[in-house]
This record gives sequence, structure tokens and C-alpha cells, in this order.
Amino acid sequence: TAALPDGFSIRPLARDDYHKGFYECLRVLTWVADPTEVEFQARFDEMAAAKDTYFFAVVEFRGRIVGTGCLVVERKFIHNHGKCGHIEEIAVAKEHQGKGLGLNIMRALESVAVSVGCYKSILNCGPRNEPFYEKCGFHNSGIEMSVYF
Ligand code: ACO
Repeated sequence: TAALPDGFSIRPLARDDYHKGFYECLRVLTWVADPTEVEFQARFDEMAAAKDTYFFAVVEFRGRIVGTGCLVVERKFIHNHGKCGHIEEIAVAKEHQGKGLGLNIMRALESVAVSVGCYKSILNCGPRNEPFYEKCGFHNSGIEMSVYF
């Protein structure tokens, strides 16, 4: 695994991260709205209460969150009651892209997935991100379908 560049560190998302630019980081990905700190902490607590299910990794640089990613652990009846990891919301701040942060986040989520007993991890992405996820060890195994409500 390539090390993080100097000054960058990776750790789990914390309940007091609201003012460190977590939502700002997510905005490189999609529309986020503008949740308050209370709303952030309510959602954080909800996820924490679903024990061993949501794992958010964040990359910090000079006290700011500049990268994030999430693993959601799905419990199944199939595969001997196996667990499947879902990789969600991988985002790196524009000015820090191409420094290996995304790859580090993916590696961290992979090691969590293995340690909680997932037999695979899957994700959905657009075609422009396919080369990145191939570098992370994923391969294209089908088509994504969705319905929006
Ligand atoms: N095309 C080709 N190669 C790429 C691309 C790309 N678009 N992006 C990264 N790579 C390669 C890099 O060159 C590097 O290869 P190398 O090790 O041979 O040099 C390797 O992938 C790792 O790159 P990182 O520097 O770790 O990637 P980065 O930190 O820039 O993160 C990411 C990649 C997360 C896609 C970032 O560009 C980003 O935040 N984009 C906008 C948000 C987004 O699209 N997120 C993914 C949504 S899908 C999902 O979340 C499941």
C-alpha cells in the first residue's frame, strides 16, 4: 500500500467533525444540502446505533477533511448468512486528487470489510471512475440499474 503523503492522516469519521469540512468534501461528489450540526450528529448517532454496519473513513490535512469514503455492511441470508460490503461516497477534495488519497481510503475500507467478515465488496460508479476502481482491485461485473423516487 502506498503511504499517505506527508501531513495527511486517515481515521474514522468522528462525531465532532462537522466543523472540519466533512460536507464540503462530500460536495465534490453530489448535491448535499446544508445540514446543521445537530442534524449531522443525529445522523451520525443513527448510523452508530446500527452496530458494525456503517464505517466512514476520512483523510485529514491541516485540521480539514479532504477525503472520505464509506463501507456499509449488508447482512445476507445467502452465502451462509454472509456479509457483503458496499462502497459508497468516495470523495477527495479537488485540490488533493491524484495524490493517492482515494486509493488509501479504498484500502482502509477493504481492510475493514475483511476484518468484519465480508466475502466481497461492491460499488456503483460512472464510466469515468472505472480506471480508478480497477487500480483499487475491482473489476466491472455487470450493469448498474436504478430507480429514483
Ligand atoms: N482515470 C484514470 N486513472 C485514475 C483516475 C481516472 N479518472 N482517477 C484516479 N486514477 C488512478 C490514479 O492515476 C492512480 O493511479 P497510479 O497509482 O497508477 O498513479 C490511482 O488511480 C489512485 O488514484 P488516487 O490519487 O488515489 O485517486 P484520488 O485521490 O484522486 O481519488 C476519486 C479518486 C475518489 C475518484 C476522486 O477523483 C474524486 O473524488 N472524484 C470526484 C468524486 C467521485 O467521482 N467519486 C467516486 C464516486 S463512485 C463511489 O463513490 C462508489
